Amino acid sequence: MKQKFCSLRGMSDILPSDIAAWQRLEATAREVFGVFGFNEIRTPIAEETALFERGVGEDTEVIGKEMYSFLDKGERNISLRPEGTASAARCYIEHAVHQREPVSKWFYIGPMFRYERMKTGRYRQFHQLGAEAFGIAEPQQDAELIQLALAFLQKLGIAQVRLELNSLGNADCRRRFSEKTHAYFSNHRHVLSADLQKTLDKNPLRLLDSKEEVMAPLIASAPLLLEHLDEASREHFEELQRLLRLSDIDFVLNPRLVRGLDYYSRTAFEIIADSPLLGTAGTVCGGGRYDGLMEQLGGPSTPAVGFAMGLERLCLLMGADAKPGFEGPLLFLADAGAGDEVWKLLLRLRKAGLVVEADLRGGSVKSQLKRANKLNAQYCLVLGEAELQTGKAQLKDMRNSTEREVVLAELEGMLR
Ligand code: HAM
Repeated sequence: MKQKFCSLRGMSDILPSDIAAWQRLEATAREVFGVFGFNEIRTPIAEETALFERGVGEDTEVIGKEMYSFLDKGERNISLRPEGTASAARCYIEHAVHQREPVSKWFYIGPMFRYERMKTGRYRQFHQLGAEAFGIAEPQQDAELIQLALAFLQKLGIAQVRLELNSLGNADCRRRFSEKTHAYFSNHRHVLSADLQKTLDKNPLRLLDSKEEVMAPLIASAPLLLEHLDEASREHFEELQRLLRLSDIDFVLNPRLVRGLDYYSRTAFEIIADSPLLGTAGTVCGGGRYDGLMEQLGGPSTPAVGFAMGLERLCLLMGADAKPGFEGPLLFLADAGAGDEVWKLLLRLRKAGLVVEADLRGGSVKSQLKRANKLNAQYCLVLGEAELQTGKAQLKDMRNSTEREVVLAELEGMLR
């Protein structure tokens, strides 16, 4: 029996019938991100595993449990990227971008890979649209990024969203708070599952946004990060909130928002769409400030802030709004004995930028016209010897079955 191949679990094909939403997302991204002064970068989908371990943090779930890692033929430890920030930072350092410009604003669109438990809105290959701004420590940059994320969603017609905001303080403050959180949950270790105990020892802050039922009452009385902020981070956070109010942007403070990646300091935010279409995967955008990452990766000290959105989730939300991808050719050429001339005309019209189809299998005129109908062609032209001799043919409008005579040499101009 022949082996039947399927795509890997959690990795999906995007067929022409679904492509319209993706193209709309990408075109809108390029437009809106361009307006905000962000330039596109493209980095490889695989990097040295150590980049992610050092950048994102070995104790995070993404790196500890979900990476697609392997040894290549040169015995190098490689991983498919689970996110885009570490790669963008690596790229910024490698090309010494800071020597050329004090501020860089980048965006990227591409596939990311995480070996996750599958459910609606959660996949193993998924696509992110990310933005990273390097060089500005002021909260103005955080506010601009949040404005950008919301402007993009609004342009897509996704307006029912909630912006949640928190500050994680500086690295010192985060470390102290992590110890405090560890001490607090350690007092309740006996009610924690083995998995939660592991999280407690590796990354106690993650317990604060655990969704497990047993955790709810514990989290409700856990220490609050916002109450332990250092003075500079507090001022930064207050100024960010003032700027958001100034921009008429609604937000809710969520002191439990800690994010799943280790590089964040100060601002952390998420944009959540409360839609049944997304099940429990309502977070369409996550981001924050990561002022320490560049140095951690061996680069120059560079303040930075960014976000990424999950495009599959946006597609689910856009759903029926997106038009079908392929609307049918403008013209279908049917061959009734014109042979090579059909072939030549097809090429001539396509070179002129017109969407023209023919049935490359040949066959009877009847079967070719059936094909034209199936493709939803707007016009059809049947070419035989008579048409070639007179240089004229009947152009049939397939939508209302009317016909009119056209001069073949003038087809381009006429069809336009
Ligand atoms: P993240 O929160 O891990 O952040 O991912 C950002 C977004 O990607 C999520 O809010 C979600 O929409 C989408 N996403 C994540 N995992 C999956 C999945 N398995 N399936 C479908 N969608 C998913 C980051 O990745 C950071 N690099 C964001 C960032 C950029 N922070 C600063 N700059």
